[in-house]
Amino acid sequence: MYVLNTWYVAGWSNEITTQPLARTICETPIVLFRTEAGELAALADRCAHRAYPLSAGRVIDSSIQCGYHGFAFGTDGVCTRVPAQESIPPRAQVRTYPVVEKDGWTWVWLGDPDRADVDLLPDTHWMADPEWATVTHTVLFECRHNLIHDNLLDLTHESFLHETTVGDDYIYQHGITVEVDGHVVSVDRLMPDVAAPPLYAQTMGTEGLYDRFHTTEFHVPNFHVLHSGITGQGRPREEGYLIKVLNGITPVDASHSWYYYAFSRNFGVDNQQATAELEVGLATVLREDAEALKYQEIGMRQRPAKEADVLIGQDAGVAKARRILDQLLATEHPGRDAAASASAAVSPTHQPTGETPSGSRSVTTVRPSADRPVTARRITPESVGANP
Ligand code: FES
Ligand SMILES: [Fe+2]
Repeated sequence: MYVLNTWYVAGWSNEITTQPLARTICETPIVLFRTEAGELAALADRCAHRAYPLSAGRVIDSSIQCGYHGFAFGTDGVCTRVPAQESIPPRAQVRTYPVVEKDGWTWVWLGDPDRADVDLLPDTHWMADPEWATVTHTVLFECRHNLIHDNLLDLTHESFLHETTVGDDYIYQHGITVEVDGHVVSVDRLMPDVAAPPLYAQTMGTEGLYDRFHTTEFHVPNFHVLHSGITGQGRPREEGYLIKVLNGITPVDASHSWYYYAFSRNFGVDNQQATAELEVGLATVLREDAEALKYQEIGMRQRPAKEADVLIGQDAGVAKARRILDQLLATEHPGRDAAASASAAVSPTHQPTGETPSGSRSVTTVRPSADRPVTARRITPESVGANP
């Protein structure tokens, strides 16, 4: 069961051409294409005649022609031609879906079309900003979408799963601050006085110690903006080397998810070699995640129904996001089985401090682990005003 009243990433803009593209989103087969005039369309990938996939057909002028008996459908889903006869049956129509492009992303709305508001699209402007350079990847993950959300909300896994690229022990040793604002869950971790991650250090041309930070901003149910980077010790984040990792997570079915990944940086923007190296390095990171989540999905399917996750303090964002996702699902699917919910069978074992729920806003802080006391901020004459 999926939240349908939201924009899902269906692909990159440059993937959608006059060559029909099949995408299954939330178990719904969709065909995306452009007309010869460049108009974008998203239709049910099922011909009204006898259910042959329209994605196996071809675009002619402003219609898509079915590859079986040649029925043609316009971007509004209405049949425009039946080759074997002159009259067109009134029921010869396929469903259309609102579709929109922005900053290189293509989004589709599966729910109530009257609620498909482009103002609900997340901010992705870094992709279109010449002051930023972007690397993208697309990976089909062999797991349910929930596991990817949990993965992004609990970045302590970087210490272990990505130890040669973006990981280090200091990540799990630092505490987090979790904020909830409506349907957005943010998990912030500040790591003062640490080395830059191995994958970026060379591109950044950095040595020595910095303040590293990352904030996972989960727009429940399907999009994460990871605000990340390093800055001079004690300096404001916006002065530093900044990274925006945009993660569009699109469910295919109960055990497959499309992962659309964009990594935008504001440093080494014209450095083609750095871009090429990041492309390879980031593919490694994604492969590590994909492999881990594939086996986690198998584990989830093998474990007994009553065996639940054991959440800890660092999972505060995970727990909050699951509750919001459950609320969205309950709103759209009132009769749904509560036992199947993402949060029903889990109970965090931590004692969060400073939780101050207030309407739809709340803030939770989770202390650093015992093996790393809170680091005293050092501001040295060298670091004041330093642009790392
Ligand atoms: S199934 Fe498409 S034209 Fe017959
Ligand atoms: Fe990861």
